[in-house]
Amino acid sequence: MNINKQHYRTIWPDPENDETIMIIDQRQLPHKFVIEPLTTLNDAVVAIKDMHVRGAGLIGATAGFGMYLASVNARDGFLNDALEQAAELLDKSRPTARNLKWAVDRILEAVEKGIDEAEKKTIAFQTACEIADEDAAFCKALGKHGLEIIKDLSKAKEGETINILTHCNAGWLAFVDYGSATAPIYAARDAGIDIHVWVDETRPWNQGARLTAWELQQENIPCTLITDNAGGHLMQKGMVDMVLVGTDRTTHTGDVANKIGTYLKALAAHDNQVPFYVALPSSTFDWEIDDGNEIPIEERSGDEITAISGLHSNGTIETIQLTAPETRAVNYSFDITPARLVTGLITERGIVAAEKQAIHKLFPEK
Ligand code: MRU
Repeated sequence: MNINKQHYRTIWPDPENDETIMIIDQRQLPHKFVIEPLTTLNDAVVAIKDMHVRGAGLIGATAGFGMYLASVNARDGFLNDALEQAAELLDKSRPTARNLKWAVDRILEAVEKGIDEAEKKTIAFQTACEIADEDAAFCKALGKHGLEIIKDLSKAKEGETINILTHCNAGWLAFVDYGSATAPIYAARDAGIDIHVWVDETRPWNQGARLTAWELQQENIPCTLITDNAGGHLMQKGMVDMVLVGTDRTTHTGDVANKIGTYLKALAAHDNQVPFYVALPSSTFDWEIDDGNEIPIEERSGDEITAISGLHSNGTIETIQLTAPETRAVNYSFDITPARLVTGLITERGIVAAEKQAIHKLFPEK
């Protein structure tokens, strides 16, 4: 992804010292572009928990590097213990995103092959880099498959603008590069298809308003910000050709956990015969849970609802109170869209029905 025409990933080892991992502090976007160094496991846990980084793929990549940082700082003779404790801490840092546990387990499994602590540390670094590279490669690959859907829509509309509605941020900022929901959009732009994106603001953290709209602007994709409740109206008026969202965890039976409010978009899409697609790298599949209702739903602080942050005219980012101070708020962060409302899943291996048999056919090794 380009920021002011310079290419960035969302996480990378410092080229001068690979014991420092660099991230972009997303709490400050779009107002300030701040690069933050992580040097300890605790830095990585805080970055995930407090959402300096966020989004399924990037949470996974950060967890991978967090495991590596735990190995860097482990006392001699205690590397295995340090990694086990790190795994436990990271697993708890955000409960819904599947990529987190997937990345932690992948590092734990890989380091077992190391014959001594030095080698285990090297393996942890290499595996964390592989996780990040693979995340970017999978998003790029699924973009090509998603492009085919957009091409068909464009053909059916004889080249008229294709209006895509997205929720939250399943873009570059939620992954290491490209994004899941945005990869097909970037591919369509590159293929010369006329595209416009409706961006849900995505209360309360405003990932759509703050991140997706900014990210699309950086890539010159025409987009318009809408309130979270506007989607149904736009669909009734024929102003949405496709809903395209990401996911934090999808069961191998096709139920989709995504940012709170996604389910309502899926219902509105169903009622208006608008195709509803979910884009995901296979690292987001949960191969054990059969029923989406078993996915743990993160509950965050109600303060995210009762207060709001933004840029003050004096140039600082300030948080102000929206409600009466005693207002009680409950903040469920994700909801489950049942497989029956999903038109298809766009993965790095192709497009598949949100249905157990079809998913296992595409990923037979699972
Ligand atoms: O709470 P977040 O910002 O980490 O939530 C993740 C999301 O941005 C969305 O749910 C997204 O659509 C899926 S993550 C690829």
